[in-house]
Amino acid sequence: MKFTFQNLFSNKQNKYLFSAFGILALYGLTNFVTQYRIQRKYDKLCQKRRDELKRSIQEFKQSYDLSTGLSAQLEKEILNYTIADIKKILFEKKATVKQVLLVFINRTLSVATSENLNLITDINFIEAIQQAEKQDQEIFSDPQIIYQYDLFGIPVSVKDTYIHKGFDNTYGLASRLYKPATYDGIQVSMIKKARGIIFVRSNLPQLAMTFESTNRIFGRSLNPWNKDRAVGGSSGGEAALQAARCSVIGIGSDIGGSIRIPAAFCGVYGFKPGMSRQTEIGEGVIEKAANGMVNIRPSKGPLGRSVDDLIVMLGVLFNSKNYSELPLSTQDPYWKPQDLNFTQISKKDKLKIGYIEQFNDLLPPNCMKRAVQEACQALINKGHEIVQINLDQELEHELAVAFPRLVAAEGGFKSFGENLKGEKIIEEYELMEAGTKIPLFLQTYILAPLLKILGQKTLYVMSKQTHGLDVYQYLVNSGKQKRMNLQFLQYLKQNQIDAVIVPGFGCPAVKHGASKELPLAALYTWMWNTADLPAGSMPITRVQGGNDLKIEGKEKTIDIVYILMNRNMQNAEGLPVNVQVISYPHQEEMVLRVMKEIEGVVKFNEKHPYPY
Ligand SMILES: *[C@@H]1O[C@H](CO)[C@@H](O)[C@H](O)[C@H]1NC(C)=O
Ligand SMILES: *[C@@H]1O[C@H](CO)[C@@H](O)[C@H](O)[C@H]1NC(C)=O
Ligand SMILES: *[C@@H]1O[C@H](CO)[C@@H](O)[C@H](O)[C@H]1NC(C)=O
Ligand SMILES: *[C@@H]1O[C@H](CO)[C@@H](O)[C@H](O)[C@H]1NC(C)=O
Repeated sequence: MKFTFQNLFSNKQNKYLFSAFGILALYGLTNFVTQYRIQRKYDKLCQKRRDELKRSIQEFKQSYDLSTGLSAQLEKEILNYTIADIKKILFEKKATVKQVLLVFINRTLSVATSENLNLITDINFIEAIQQAEKQDQEIFSDPQIIYQYDLFGIPVSVKDTYIHKGFDNTYGLASRLYKPATYDGIQVSMIKKARGIIFVRSNLPQLAMTFESTNRIFGRSLNPWNKDRAVGGSSGGEAALQAARCSVIGIGSDIGGSIRIPAAFCGVYGFKPGMSRQTEIGEGVIEKAANGMVNIRPSKGPLGRSVDDLIVMLGVLFNSKNYSELPLSTQDPYWKPQDLNFTQISKKDKLKIGYIEQFNDLLPPNCMKRAVQEACQALINKGHEIVQINLDQELEHELAVAFPRLVAAEGGFKSFGENLKGEKIIEEYELMEAGTKIPLFLQTYILAPLLKILGQKTLYVMSKQTHGLDVYQYLVNSGKQKRMNLQFLQYLKQNQIDAVIVPGFGCPAVKHGASKELPLAALYTWMWNTADLPAGSMPITRVQGGNDLKIEGKEKTIDIVYILMNRNMQNAEGLPVNVQVISYPHQEEMVLRVMKEIEGVVKFNEKHPYPY
């Protein structure tokens, strides 16, 4: 049929036109109804899963006697214990594996369930108790066994994303419910090989891509230091379990700060190895494009309450001999584990440590800088040399923006959105999603100049980074990113710097819902993912009043980002403040050594009683 204007306005064509509109309207309506029905289906599914968790907790409480027979004093002490402390009391027969486990189960039941901080997604108490009973029998025949296995007798928690036989890895997505794993992934297998007792799994954000742990299945996790604050994310449940002393050690994962941000929000220790030091395999696979990112990949590592405990867990995860004994089907042919080995690192007595107090793309409040200074002072006390790092402006900026530029490049949050399978996105992502959907020309010629005119320098700089790109421009950016990473490392090498201290995050734990306004604060962590360096996060101090809350030069400003940051600093007193330690690729041991030396002087846990 030939198209002409006469045809369009002829009576017959009019009918077609009306029916076309009719069909469109019908399509819209069906779409709406389908969406509504999907959401209702998901809501029911989420409710069902929540109810089941509650019920299994109830049943456990009713059918199990949680009394340990230990003195109340010892029970309290056990909650503060490191892995080594626990092994010691097991060896001295002051407690059994089962008693220790019950102490942590009881703790988890009283503070980590949905009635309180809401940190957990699964319980594995029954199986854990059976394992503990078996281990007690083994100790009875040979107490030395406690020291033959690195995690013998130790209660361990893992983030929801880990592949663990019999459990869903949901990523906080309703569509992933009721699809339990049929085998143990690498990390869960390695923990089991070292005889760690996995007794609980921990909460995270929907899609695991923001720094508040909230989703439509399990709801929102609350910070043990202050319930009005986020636990961080994505390994937020895990960090809060450590801070609330519900678990001894756990594992999380980190693609832009997902181990280090929750560690900072909750005032615990977290460690992100470099990509080459660990494997990409072992967590549930998020679908299609999101799994296709090659410049940044999730890194797996521990969260705990001491550097020594992080070292034990990393020793387990990096153990080459044990890895070689895993079923071939679970192994990663691309990975060759390299054992943790401090021989080389401990040869050098005096270290040269660099520090960076702030990045100009987002200035932190004074407390973050004070923590860096205090960590440096601790290292000076230990006889090390401290130098300030002065990067040129372009390098500093490029390091800061490489991550959002990469993540936004696909345009419109598509790759993450497709994993929702029709589920409604959480509010925390809405701005991010909207931002990446603005067409390039609008962003360049209208939005950016407008932001500049309105004095929104911070948003102006960022808006230029976050939009969809073609493959060519993506590759150009990737090339630039490589050069900048190299330039940074060469700067460190030329100045013979062994490690660098930087703020733990752009600010202390944010208020609930604030992650959508302050994504930029994560530049302090995400740049070590794009640079692919080992990075650890550790608590140094807590927010005091007065000067600590101020952002220098931004007390009175029209810059909306700082207005929001200032608002977020209200009532922040008492929150923990972390720093990060970073070093060269393959120098995980150097990071751990520096963290341990700082810990020895700062003694955060002794000076600041655990919250809760
Ligand atoms: C479990 O913990 C609660 C709250 O901390 C405590 O009151 C209770 O005595 C504990 N129960 C047992 C059996 O230890
Ligand atoms: C390796 O596995 C052995 C048992 O097969 C265990 O004794 C040891 O603790 C494990 N080592 C580590 C570092 O996980
Ligand atoms: C640690 O590394 C040193 C060399 O730096 C090597 O001699 C030693 O055998 C290694 N130790 C282990 C346990 O692999
Ligand atoms: C354990 O930690 C809590 C909280 O930090 C503290 O109040 C308590 O004194 C510690 N208990 C022991 C026995 O060290």
